[in-house]
Amino acid sequence: MAYETILVEQRDAVTLITLNRPQALNALNSQVLADLGAAFAAYDADPTQHCAVLTGSEKAFAAGADIKEMVDKEAADFFLQDFFSDWQTKVVATRKPWIAAVAGFALGGGCELAMMADFILAADTARFGQPEVKLGVAPGMGGSQRLTRAVGKAKAMEMCLTGRMMGAEEAERAGLVARIVPAAELLDDALKTAAAIAAMPPMAAMVNKEMVNIAFETNLAQGILTERRLFQILTATQDKKEGMTAFVEKRPGVWKGR
Ligand code: CAA
Repeated sequence: MAYETILVEQRDAVTLITLNRPQALNALNSQVLADLGAAFAAYDADPTQHCAVLTGSEKAFAAGADIKEMVDKEAADFFLQDFFSDWQTKVVATRKPWIAAVAGFALGGGCELAMMADFILAADTARFGQPEVKLGVAPGMGGSQRLTRAVGKAKAMEMCLTGRMMGAEEAERAGLVARIVPAAELLDDALKTAAAIAAMPPMAAMVNKEMVNIAFETNLAQGILTERRLFQILTATQDKKEGMTAFVEKRPGVWKGR
């Protein structure tokens, strides 16, 4: 499939998606959303693909929602189009695992897009921020909620109110990113990490993703019950039988994906 604003390639079982609007620092306009929605749907539907990496350029993962697309829109347009809602239905809804590999600016919608990933690997050059307040608005793609859950109220509030950027080290300390990688190694590291995930029993990986996400959606007792039920469902898979048998027989497992 041809995309206008992203590049998509498959490296064995890993789908690599690269944001490709360098002239606008990968600002996220409607076309980027349409392209990403189609690419994530294709990834989810492809039985040969088991992990994805979303990345940007050295300078910018993404510098936010496209301000030039929004500048002349009126409030009624945003409301009637339910602007930004498709990020939830087309990107967050992805059931298979995916990683955001972030170098440079991840601002506004760019930070929010990175936070939609299952986890963020950050180059030492990464800079995260929610500067929407400076534009007279506020985060609209989940930033006020996901950032607060990731780094806590004090830091999220300070970042949203001042619009200041957070560097990679502070982001790792605060729990926003899983790991920091030297910029030159970011893509290699992300692809290797994705390949390691892609080598896992695929249903188990999907269920692990769902379980961790449930921790953000519900209370502890309900989350623990849901975890136990999902665990019990996984024990019905052929890959559970194979994984445990392979361990006992001291050999690598061979996965059926069911
Ligand atoms: N939307 C549209 N275009 C953008 C953009 C954005 N978010 N960010 C950068 N660009 C464009 C610039 O307009 C510029 O285009 P021209 O060459 O045509 O002028 C080009 O990308 C390069 O940008 P700069 O010249 O500004 O590059 P810089 O290195 O001097 O500065 C920057 C980099 C600090 C990231 C600066 O571009 C910047 O502040 N960008 C805006 C960041 C921002 O406010 N993001 C939040 C957007 S609102 C949002 O995301 C809402 C939401 O919650 C979903």
